Amino acid sequence: MSEIILEMDNIIKKFDNQEVIKNISLKVDKGEFLTLLGPSGCGKTTTLRIIAGFENPTSGSVLLEGKHVENKQPNDRNVNTVFQNYALFPHMNVFDNIAYALKIRRVNKIEIKERVMKMLSLVQLEGYEKRKIDGLSGGQKQRVAIGRSLINKPKILLLDEPLGALDLKLRKQMQIELKKLQKKLQITFVYVTHDQEEALNMSDRIAVMNEGIIEQIGSPEDIYERPETKFVASFIGESNLIKTRIKKIDEEKISVEFDKNEMIVNYKNYDNSKNKESYALVRPENVKYTREKPQFGIKSIIKEHSYIGSMIKTIVESESGQEIIVYDYDKKKDLIGIGSEVWIYFEPEDVVLVEEG
Ligand SMILES: Nc1ncnc2c1ncn2[C@@H]1O[C@H](COP(=O)(O)OP(=O)(O)OP(=O)(O)O)[C@@H](O)[C@H]1O
Ligand SMILES: [Mg+2]
Repeated sequence: MSEIILEMDNIIKKFDNQEVIKNISLKVDKGEFLTLLGPSGCGKTTTLRIIAGFENPTSGSVLLEGKHVENKQPNDRNVNTVFQNYALFPHMNVFDNIAYALKIRRVNKIEIKERVMKMLSLVQLEGYEKRKIDGLSGGQKQRVAIGRSLINKPKILLLDEPLGALDLKLRKQMQIELKKLQKKLQITFVYVTHDQEEALNMSDRIAVMNEGIIEQIGSPEDIYERPETKFVASFIGESNLIKTRIKKIDEEKISVEFDKNEMIVNYKNYDNSKNKESYALVRPENVKYTREKPQFGIKSIIKEHSYIGSMIKTIVESESGQEIIVYDYDKKKDLIGIGSEVWIYFEPEDVVLVEEG
């Protein structure tokens, strides 16, 4: 049985009468890596600050290990935060930065030394204890910030875009390291990013936020393969959202229409009324095209091919003027020329119906 370590119930936050968090409820399991993912301004940092206690919710409750903490100061919450700008003490060396929280708590010197050295090894900074903060690279500073926030063994670590300032290669390396560290220490992480790939790589679950609400929460696979709203479908990964009309629904099957082509897709519990406009999400890796008319196909014209390293990305335009992206990993194949007429097709099981949302 999993144990809930953090619970937010019906959180609303207003700034100057403007609601920036519009009723968020969330439960996080002990030891879980949960990511808040969403575009700039959707309320990720505000949500973290409410958990940390830097911000009071306008209404709603926050529980840590089953206890209300709305009136508790950040220091009394057993939660630490890693900020994007590191917020290190520039005049102190690496050792003193990491030791800071222990010194404040008057832990004895021998224990401090032991714990700091162990932490330096965990964050792979052995030998750097005397180094000044200014003499560190971005990735090293980030490691110090993480070490410093883990030294007093918080129950939950909140991380606000902690890798945002690093270059792509270092960011990818740190993603792996952080995830390993989290699993090793079994500390609950609530991680904020607007980078969907980072969220998919690292998280046990992702909460996709949009304008102050959580649109969907689920495993990376749920979020990628079974998005529930158009926003989630288009925010995560590249996607084709093809306008469709629902023709007929029975228990498990739905008949949908794309550009006058009808297709039966399996879809349980789709509670949309008949003949309604909807969107079919089909990922580019699941779309194919051919010159010969297949049993089901959408007539299209090739608009563009581009070479993206591991694959060829082709854009076609359907008869109704909709652009559809196709990924082809078979790079040796002869490409069909720009302007040629083709039929695009996909398998019913690769279609996910999403509502406007
Ligand atoms: N102290 C404040 N006073 C007024 N408005 C605020 C305050 N803090 C945040 N906001 C507003 O609340 C909204 C959400 O801000 P928040 O910082 O939570 O977004 P975010 O998802 O973290 O964005 P980003 O990815 O850019 O960091 C924004 O419109 C922001 O301008
Ligand atoms: Mg933010």
